[in-house]
Amino acid sequence: MTTREVLAAARLRGVVRVPGDKSASHRALMLSALARGTSHIEGLSRGEDVAATTQIMAQLGASVDTRDGVVVVEGPRRGLRTSSEVLECANSGTTMRLLAGIVAGIPGEHRLVGDASLSRRPMDRVARPLRLMGAQVTGRGDAMTAPLTVLGARPLRAISYDVPIASAQVKSAILFAGLVGDGATSVREDPRTRSTTEDMMRRCGIHLTSVETATGREVVVSPGRPTSQHWRVPGDPSQAAFFAVLGAIHRDAVIEIEPIDTAPERIGFVGVLERMGADIAWHDGSLHVASSSLVGTEILAAEIPSVDEVPVLTVAAAAATGVSTFRNVGELRVKESDRFSGSIALATALGCKTWSDGDDFFVLGLGTAAAFASFSLDVELDHRMVMAAAIAASAGRGGVIGGADSVSSSYPAFFDDLASLQ
Ligand code: S3P
Repeated sequence: MTTREVLAAARLRGVVRVPGDKSASHRALMLSALARGTSHIEGLSRGEDVAATTQIMAQLGASVDTRDGVVVVEGPRRGLRTSSEVLECANSGTTMRLLAGIVAGIPGEHRLVGDASLSRRPMDRVARPLRLMGAQVTGRGDAMTAPLTVLGARPLRAISYDVPIASAQVKSAILFAGLVGDGATSVREDPRTRSTTEDMMRRCGIHLTSVETATGREVVVSPGRPTSQHWRVPGDPSQAAFFAVLGAIHRDAVIEIEPIDTAPERIGFVGVLERMGADIAWHDGSLHVASSSLVGTEILAAEIPSVDEVPVLTVAAAAATGVSTFRNVGELRVKESDRFSGSIALATALGCKTWSDGDDFFVLGLGTAAAFASFSLDVELDHRMVMAAAIAASAGRGGVIGGADSVSSSYPAFFDDLASLQ
């Protein structure tokens, strides 16, 4: 475990280019590996999560190469096949869950493994629908944690499924399995989660319809093989959220974040920061943010459906005046670490009064990041908790973060980009 001391920054100025969107990167690799012919991917995330997907697509028979910074993927003519080796998903829930959907449709046995964090995360949420479709999926205990064994079948049974939790990963696993269904597969979700899979499948020529209901949507996918594409991966909004909060809470900051994906399900954090009074604005797809005085607000899970931005919004809440309420965010407990407790622990370490009630938690802000306590916190195997803590340290009075190297799962250059603003 690498421990890193992050010093308080006196002044922050500059432009940040966040990495390619992690969600789009995984899907670009997977769709390209499933496709016939040669695909190109520009701007692929360089994090270890996406590297795990790259390695696995190669194990399943795709050829993956990098030429002049562009990743070139060639899907095997007769489609992906089983690997005799385990499929190492490392720290990446997206890899394991989407992959389960893909290998469910590849006859034969597949063994999916992960690190200590991923091996604690529930996989029953994907196992259940995939079993209904005809794959055999086994894992450990009721939550069906990894290692997972998937016995694939083809064709799979087309199903009609209501996803019981807000999860783009579960929706996507079913949509990938639906590509080899014996008819049209329908997935309903409420609230709406990121539509990355739907948008990218459609672009690859897959017949897919999506109808929005009041707060949810129904997606119907028909079987088919994706066509090869030239992908340009947009900047990752979830990574932009760290610098947006930093710019808003630091007492002397002007930060520009280069263009990111602006899908509505991904940029809920901007609306939250605006509501808190942040000086934040869009200019040609870039986000400009400057020092602000924030006020507490109520944040609903549905406005940031994957809750990925909650840890760093907790830091914003800690710097705000008054109470911020995070409602219905119980899903945080089953992320790379228990981010429900972790977010509360971070705000507490900064000196805030915090409390919780069921799936809600509350932070009484200190009114300014200048009042943050210098802290020391251990965060193992959770990139987003490390980055949230680093933002707090940089805007406040510094901090020591154990487990800091886990940023490499999604953002290996995070500390360099943070330092470049000083
Ligand atoms: C992701 C979905 C989200 C998110 C994760 C990426 C995706 O998880 O937390 O970082 O790419 O589909 P859930 O599906 O659990 O909401």
